[in-house]
Amino acid sequence: MKKYLIILTAVTMVLASCTGKKEISKSGEEPGEEVKQTWTLGMSQCNLGEPWRVQMNQDIKNAAENHPEIKVIFKDAQNDSLTQRSQIEEFINADVDLLIVSPKEAAPMTPPVAAAYDKGIPVIILDRRILGDKYTCFIGGDNKMIGKAAGRWVVEKLGGKGKIIELKGLMTSTPGQDRHSGFQEGIKGSDIDVIFEADMKWLEPEARKEMESALARFDTIDLVYAHNDPGAHGAYLAAQAVAREKDIVFVGIDALPHEGQIYVKQGILAATFEYPTGGKEAIETALAILRGEPVAKEITLSSRIFTSENVDSGGEYIEHYFKQ
Ligand code: FRU
Repeated sequence: MKKYLIILTAVTMVLASCTGKKEISKSGEEPGEEVKQTWTLGMSQCNLGEPWRVQMNQDIKNAAENHPEIKVIFKDAQNDSLTQRSQIEEFINADVDLLIVSPKEAAPMTPPVAAAYDKGIPVIILDRRILGDKYTCFIGGDNKMIGKAAGRWVVEKLGGKGKIIELKGLMTSTPGQDRHSGFQEGIKGSDIDVIFEADMKWLEPEARKEMESALARFDTIDLVYAHNDPGAHGAYLAAQAVAREKDIVFVGIDALPHEGQIYVKQGILAATFEYPTGGKEAIETALAILRGEPVAKEITLSSRIFTSENVDSGGEYIEHYFKQ
């Protein structure tokens, strides 16, 4: 019996010495051993249907590539809150070291995020918010400020009065709510009349359909304010189909270099407001959290406006625009 024990111990020792560098997760160093610490991050993306979200994942991948100590696992919820919820639960069960979540809707995503947070998994919320404060850090643009800047820009563009259409983002998601309320503030005191508003759920085909209804109902439409560039583009296509696109000003949000900024250059959009993806910042913040460094609970990203006058020179920060 004693002999067997000795053999077993020897085998174990050989096996241990063969593993070379020891990869550990979360735990501390063992004295005298070379230790390479690696972390696994789960990234829950609500959908990859829009170019903006594809860009967010790409920004995360690019930033993570510079850090071999982290590995990011992506899951795409395909625009379904139940799927996103179960994917977050899968990440929790797999005991990832940190979660990044870009939620579809605030309410349904609040319990799974809170479950991760309560279990001690740090959570970075990107772009759309959840309810309450059970998360480690929120990173995103200031949607209220963007909406307000858009409102002020519209007032100026239309000389203080006009009939406009608002195509809203999904109103169960926080950017839709904030881009709407911010815009209301921005047009306050003017004679801008919102004659038609609809929830196009961030989707170009929905925006196009809603715009078709608006065009059928109203002979005069001065401007369309859409909560994202796919929405503004869908509205433009609807107007173009009935040869009315030249009578209407189109404004969107996102301003990706290969989407909204191109639309501005092509004269399809009169303006688009940048909505940064936060992908790079999410990785920087994740590393800080994992290394035990202090991070702010809220990280707000700035935004630029792009118009035909400034698109070639890189746009203009909206704070600056307010000061003019
Ligand atoms: C993509 C998107 C963007 C928008 C953001 C708001 O799904 O609709 O176009 O700016 O989400 O969360």
